[in-house]
Amino acid sequence: MQRTVRFSLWLAVPLALFVPAISALAQSGTAAKPAVPAKNPLALTFKKPDPAKGKALSQSCQGCHGPNLASTNKAIPGLAGQNPSYTRLQLAAFRAKLRPSQVMWQQAANLSDQDIADIAAYAGGLKPGSAWKVGDEKVRAKGEALFHKGDSGRNIIACAICHGDNGRGNDYLGVASITNLSPEYGLAILKEFKGAPGFGVPHPDAMRIMLRPMTDADLKAVAAYISSMQK
Ligand code: HEC
Ligand code: HEC
Repeated sequence: MQRTVRFSLWLAVPLALFVPAISALAQSGTAAKPAVPAKNPLALTFKKPDPAKGKALSQSCQGCHGPNLASTNKAIPGLAGQNPSYTRLQLAAFRAKLRPSQVMWQQAANLSDQDIADIAAYAGGLKPGSAWKVGDEKVRAKGEALFHKGDSGRNIIACAICHGDNGRGNDYLGVASITNLSPEYGLAILKEFKGAPGFGVPHPDAMRIMLRPMTDADLKAVAAYISSMQK
């Protein structure tokens, strides 16, 4: 039940992306009014981000996301070292209640576009937390191989193609840095991407499509590996 709710909310993300286009189209039919596109809740307007302001704003986040935003709580992702474009998109999606999480809806509710950009810039400049302990070395090694080489026999492409060999992703392309996620959070988010319906937009469809040929054991293995990547 819980999962159904989460998926239908995720589905709203790509829909929201299309709202401005649809409303502009609808309005262009009425000659009296010029077309004024509705604001896309995921498109933020901000000036040059100020990491010092971001630092002040993120004091309240540290209770959950950890000192210096490097989480040591396995249920909560670290924000330290995350690519700002990814952090901005997630905070905008929480604020618009498009990404599920009651807790984060509250946290993001009163942040302005500029606050979000300042926090993302501050977090992005911090050093990610240290690696998590991985219990089973064999599982981690299987994940390492899948991450860097994929498995062409099973149509699995290497995660490194998008996330990079070091797992730090790409800020310009909006690809998340994935080092330092706990094995538990990593596995949960991978299962969520895999089980989600089609979105019709590159984000987060890239993840959904790429995980399709992977088994639960594969996901557990890559989640274990990425949690150990940060040196
Ligand atoms: C009460 C605990 C709590 C507080 C306080 C909190 N968060 Fe979170 N945050 C979470 C949890 C739990 C998640 C995981 C949500 C999920 O996907 O279920 C999360 C997820 C996130 C994510 C997504 C990260 C990713 O890797 O996808 C961002 C960004 C984030 N929080 C930013 C913030 C910021 C900025 C603040 C302070 C303004 C904050 N959080 C305060 C609990 C908290
Ligand atoms: C085709 C490009 C692509 C490939 C290949 C890919 N990813 Fe991703 N990944 C992305 C993008 C883009 C995002 C950000 C998703 C979004 O915007 O919602 C992402 C997000 C993630 C996240 C969420 C990060 C967070 O903080 O919650 C994890 C975990 C992840 N990827 C792991 C993997 C693993 C493991 C593999 C290999 C099995 C993989 N990815 C392969 C593009 C890719």
